[in-house]
Amino acid sequence: MNLEDFAERVRPLKAEGAYAVLARAKALEAQGRSIIHLEIGQPDFPTPAHIAEAGIQAIRAGRTRYTPPAGTADLRAAIAEVAGKWRGMTFFPEEVIVGPGAKPAIYFAALALVEPGEEVIIPDPGFPSYASIVRLVGGVPVPVRLDPDELYNFDMQDFRQKISHRTKLVIMNSPSNPTGGVTPLHVLEQIATEVQRVDAWVISDEIYCQLVYEGEAPSIATLPGMRERTIIVDGFSKTYSMTGWRLGFGIMPPALAERVGLLVTHTIGCTADFTQAAGVAALRGDFSTVEEMRQSFRQRRDLTVAALNALPGVRCAMPKGAFYVFPDIRSYGRSSREMADYLLERAGVALLAGSDFGPGGEGFLRISYATAWEQIREGIERMRQALAQL
Ligand SMILES: Cc1ncc(COP(=O)(O)O)c(C=O)c1O
Repeated sequence: MNLEDFAERVRPLKAEGAYAVLARAKALEAQGRSIIHLEIGQPDFPTPAHIAEAGIQAIRAGRTRYTPPAGTADLRAAIAEVAGKWRGMTFFPEEVIVGPGAKPAIYFAALALVEPGEEVIIPDPGFPSYASIVRLVGGVPVPVRLDPDELYNFDMQDFRQKISHRTKLVIMNSPSNPTGGVTPLHVLEQIATEVQRVDAWVISDEIYCQLVYEGEAPSIATLPGMRERTIIVDGFSKTYSMTGWRLGFGIMPPALAERVGLLVTHTIGCTADFTQAAGVAALRGDFSTVEEMRQSFRQRRDLTVAALNALPGVRCAMPKGAFYVFPDIRSYGRSSREMADYLLERAGVALLAGSDFGPGGEGFLRISYATAWEQIREGIERMRQALAQL
């Protein structure tokens, strides 16, 4: 079979960089090579015990059946309350749509809003699924550069040039994957002004909102006139170390929530009931394990940035959130892809090319510090030795 045998919309789909590198790293490990994994964006901590236990109890209690498509009443209420508290806002359960991860909320919201040919602004470098999702729903991705000299916020000159009456939606992500950048309020205000001028929507991917190490990561939805045109996307994968449970949500105006709920009904049906029970335990239970994880990430971030900046020719900014660093390796005069391949093959260090996140990531590498410090330290030491041979 050829690609042409399939619908045009699925032909451009590619594996996400992290999964592709993980597969290559695993193949090397199968040959007996020792690999340090700095590629995958998932916390190395187990799901906190009280959350896992709630999921197990729910299975034992027979919560293994369909739920309402938009989510159970108790989880939607807990999300409205807790996610509202995190942002200083008041949400209602009918604004909340639960799904298996944050990705469905992005996909379904885009599907509900974007007509074929309409433009969608995405961050460059940015989470690779944004461009894929926009193309899948028939939209035109319009990358806007993140400025490394401005803590990886949108380059506002580029943003103002690209936003127009053709723009239906702006996707933003603070704290950011891959840069760890956090968008401050004064930049959000500028974005909000432009978005309202052209009457567009915003998907604000706030999945790393609880992983902020300095100051706060404000939500654009808090600004005047924005709540009614914003979909807040968040989830349990990162905050509660629950990547494999598949649980996330979108918070959006009720009329859009109704449409998105119908998309859930007719595609995935619903999210597993016992997973939702675990989600309620996460939101309503003890937050101290989350706080401990955050402290540990902050320590690793500080150590990782210092160790990277001690490497000749490497410059690494101090990210304010998420669990990624995005070191600048332009002084080596080679592409990010070449550098990432070289470090994997030569040094057994699996990390991602910045260009996996869009052309704006060229000249950078993405390293996840969601792994034990001993592993990170060993990985950076291996990088030092391999870079010295270039
Ligand atoms: C920016 C961003 N958004 C969304 C997701 C998807 O998260 P989930 O596991 O909730 O689908 C990720 C996961 O890596 C991410 O980095």
